[in-house]
Amino acid sequence: MKHILSIADWTAGEIATLLDQADSFVAQAAQAALPDRQARKATLFFPEPSTRTCDSYDEAAQLIGCRRRVIVGEGATSLYKGESLSASGRMEAGYNADILVMRTKAEGGARWMAEMLDQYGYRTAVQNGGDGSNEHPSQAFLDLLTIRRRLGRLSDFTIGIVGDLKNSRTVHSLVRALRLLPDIRIVLVSAPEVRLQRWYTAGLPIQASESDSLEALQGCDIVMVTRVQKERFASEFDYQKVRGRYVVNEATLRMLGPKALILHPQPIADNEVAPEIWAHPQVIMDEQARMGVPTRMALLVHSLQRLDESGFRPAEPPTVVTVHEGSMREALARKHEKASYFTPIEDGTVIDHLRHGLGAKVMGLLRLSTQVGVGVVVLSEGLRTSKVPGGRKAAIALEHYFLTPQQKAAITLLSPEATFNEFRDGSILIKTKIGTFQTITGIGRCPNPNCVTRLDVQAALHPTFTVSSDAEPDLCCHYCEQHFPQGEIFHS
Ligand code: NCD
Repeated sequence: MKHILSIADWTAGEIATLLDQADSFVAQAAQAALPDRQARKATLFFPEPSTRTCDSYDEAAQLIGCRRRVIVGEGATSLYKGESLSASGRMEAGYNADILVMRTKAEGGARWMAEMLDQYGYRTAVQNGGDGSNEHPSQAFLDLLTIRRRLGRLSDFTIGIVGDLKNSRTVHSLVRALRLLPDIRIVLVSAPEVRLQRWYTAGLPIQASESDSLEALQGCDIVMVTRVQKERFASEFDYQKVRGRYVVNEATLRMLGPKALILHPQPIADNEVAPEIWAHPQVIMDEQARMGVPTRMALLVHSLQRLDESGFRPAEPPTVVTVHEGSMREALARKHEKASYFTPIEDGTVIDHLRHGLGAKVMGLLRLSTQVGVGVVVLSEGLRTSKVPGGRKAAIALEHYFLTPQQKAAITLLSPEATFNEFRDGSILIKTKIGTFQTITGIGRCPNPNCVTRLDVQAALHPTFTVSSDAEPDLCCHYCEQHFPQGEIFHS
């Protein structure tokens, strides 16, 4: 894929190939040799602040011979005047950006931009330079390059990750990458308020342990320290509760022993790595930051090589399985079913086999009060059935109303036995169920206020969720990559 959006899109083999390429650039990064790529343009669109990521991308783009345009700070963009991220991105793509590296506060902003630009027919590849507290994939690549060069391998090591694990996008990308590697043990050290969300480690073949004490780091080969992400806290009070909790200092180094290496994505904001040890040979965070240049050279080359093979793939609609299609009278006679709630409907839909008690929730999900053209609505609760757990069901008759596959999928998520009976011309019945599906789009709302689907007017029209079987809660926003219970996404 030409875009670099999230470590979730990569396999271990692809990461290794990219790191080989980055490694081959280390010498060139130091010597500043220029191959001929002058025709290409890299636009660095950084409304959020940056030192290392922006500067090393700039240097990397120059070293591989790209033209560059660098925009840093929201005030330097029309976002400041209220323009949407979508519109700004289209402008930059339209000004011949072969690669658009972007850093935004909108979580999922890069993925949204990549899909939207593909859909509009722009050839631009998007690279995620950090999207809110979600992901920072190029940082994970440079972290791995630093570790691989020092340990000589990317397997069989113990890594401690310390600090604000909930809000650090560098941690989220790194943990996703570590999940792909063999024999890795992870020790997570944080205050309880900023623990790593369960879905990053759930159901995966890695050993991860949690602690709130630096003592737990004993035996680590690598210790990755992160700052408390002040700008992601709801209030100063919440931030003050967790700031300054961990300081890695001389005593910590003594406890860790002479082999452990200390890394930090930087910036250090609150002396979480004490200044007394910044020059210690085991503290290699500046070397780590320098690896940003060859890593980003490799990432830029990766996208440039793949620019022409892309294409927008819209989310696949859920499968609708037809259970019966034909005469309503015959269908009911065959089943000997006394379905009194069918009576008022000549034209419309009966949602049947809902779990008892869910009727009102489904009505809320469909936002029936705001739908134009719905006729009579009848909700029946507590009907007897053998087909729904608990032996009781709810059914909703909706006159003159037909559901989209997306609406049916959302209802099926809430109530897996649901069937959808559509009546046309007073006599034809089409009864359907929803088959297995992975993605649901166009319905529901991501509860994360920092999600691009909440911050960008155009992205808001395309809420998209994926169903995951290995993590709880099992619904994941396709853009901000956070997991939520269904009820929070499909609420009234
Ligand atoms: C990080 C970031 O922006 O997420 N910095 C970086 O890119 N090296 C880490 C941080 O801000 O804490």
